[in-house]
Amino acid sequence: VKRRRVAVVGATGVAGRQALAALAGHPWFELVALAASGRSAGSTLGELLERDAASWADTGLAAPDPVVDTRPQALARRLPNEWLGLRAVTAEDLPLDGLDLVFSMLPTEAARRIEPRLAASVPVISAAAAFRDEPDTPLLLAGVNPDHAALLDAQRRARGWRGFVAPTPNCTTVGLAVCLAPLHAAAGVRSVVLTSMQAVSGAGGDGPRVAAAAAGNVLPFIDGEEPKVEREFAKILGRADAARVTPLDCVVSATCTRVPVADGHTLSVSVGLREPLDVAAAGKLLASHDPWRGRGLPSAPERWIVVRDDPDRPQPRLDLGAGAGLSTVLGRLRPDAVLGGLRFVVLSHNAVMGAAGGAVLLAEDLADRGLLTTAD
Ligand SMILES: NC(=O)c1ccc[n+]([C@@H]2O[C@H](COP(=O)([O-])OP(=O)(O)OC[C@H]3O[C@@H](n4cnc5c(N)ncnc54)[C@H](OP(=O)(O)O)[C@@H]3O)[C@@H](O)[C@H]2O)c1
Repeated sequence: VKRRRVAVVGATGVAGRQALAALAGHPWFELVALAASGRSAGSTLGELLERDAASWADTGLAAPDPVVDTRPQALARRLPNEWLGLRAVTAEDLPLDGLDLVFSMLPTEAARRIEPRLAASVPVISAAAAFRDEPDTPLLLAGVNPDHAALLDAQRRARGWRGFVAPTPNCTTVGLAVCLAPLHAAAGVRSVVLTSMQAVSGAGGDGPRVAAAAAGNVLPFIDGEEPKVEREFAKILGRADAARVTPLDCVVSATCTRVPVADGHTLSVSVGLREPLDVAAAGKLLASHDPWRGRGLPSAPERWIVVRDDPDRPQPRLDLGAGAGLSTVLGRLRPDAVLGGLRFVVLSHNAVMGAAGGAVLLAEDLADRGLLTTAD
């Protein structure tokens, strides 16, 4: 079978590097081009990884498992040698002829400007926030809301594009929605209170500066993060028809903090449920939930949600490598008397499942369902 020809835009950032890792040796997708900003254009990927390695070297933080380490120096060792000679172009200069798909790992402002031009010709799967709140656009989380993809056609028609922009959620929302989707299906989510403990790589190029500020510290504020989590969660678990998504009727209260952890966002979550669901039943439900059973998708992890019974897990240092960063690890499952439901701690890799790995998994899912197409 001919592999689809794909490009990564924003390929030199935290999420972009992880997209390259997810595409290495991919049986369905062939990386043919990479793009970044003008400051990177003309340099080879090898040179760019070396350029950025120095700033991440001094953070004193590194994921313990090289498979999920997002620093440039880790990727330089993991990516195929021949890719290190690929030269970056600017997003404006990316040739779109013959491309089947673009993974956009751009900052939101750049995405707002660049993604519509790309989508006019090619399907775009984007980790950026630019389109997440658009009424004609679904917010797609692989394995969670596959039926929302029907809305991509409405977007394409409304905007006269041959392709589309399919945004994936904010990385903090991902771990939350992966765990709450099966609980919602079983018992109805009514309310959520959460506190996040987020890794520095979630700050992208700002990571090294944030790492310095978070060293031996907790930063109790991440600009813009809490409203994103609250809005996006309700949209992801909302009801989609062919024209729009009606958000889930549910109150969400998020407090987002930054902690001195390299990679992996940990959340402490309390959820209020409409129907009774005890801890044992919820644990069984979560551990056996597998949206990929029988699908044969190349990236789908063997275990979608890993439920730990030991009282001191999950921990980023011990659990981040589960499913090569695509499994969500949940522990400390217990009743919540305040909201009338459950509470737990969950760990999700912000740049793998929370961005690039999730984007590649979504692309596999759409391709497998015949939805990764360009209109004539
Ligand atoms: N980091 C995470 O864990 C994470 C998780 C979920 C979602 N996201 C989202 O993913 C996107 C990328 O985040 P990140 O953390 O990877 O950011 P980042 O590390 O700062 O990387 C940004 C990338 O975009 C490129 N870029 C910046 N301005 C550009 C422009 N005007 N034209 C073309 N390319 C441009 C940069 O290229 P240069 O090297 O040339 O500057 C770099 O490749 C953001 O929208 C973010 O919200 C990130």
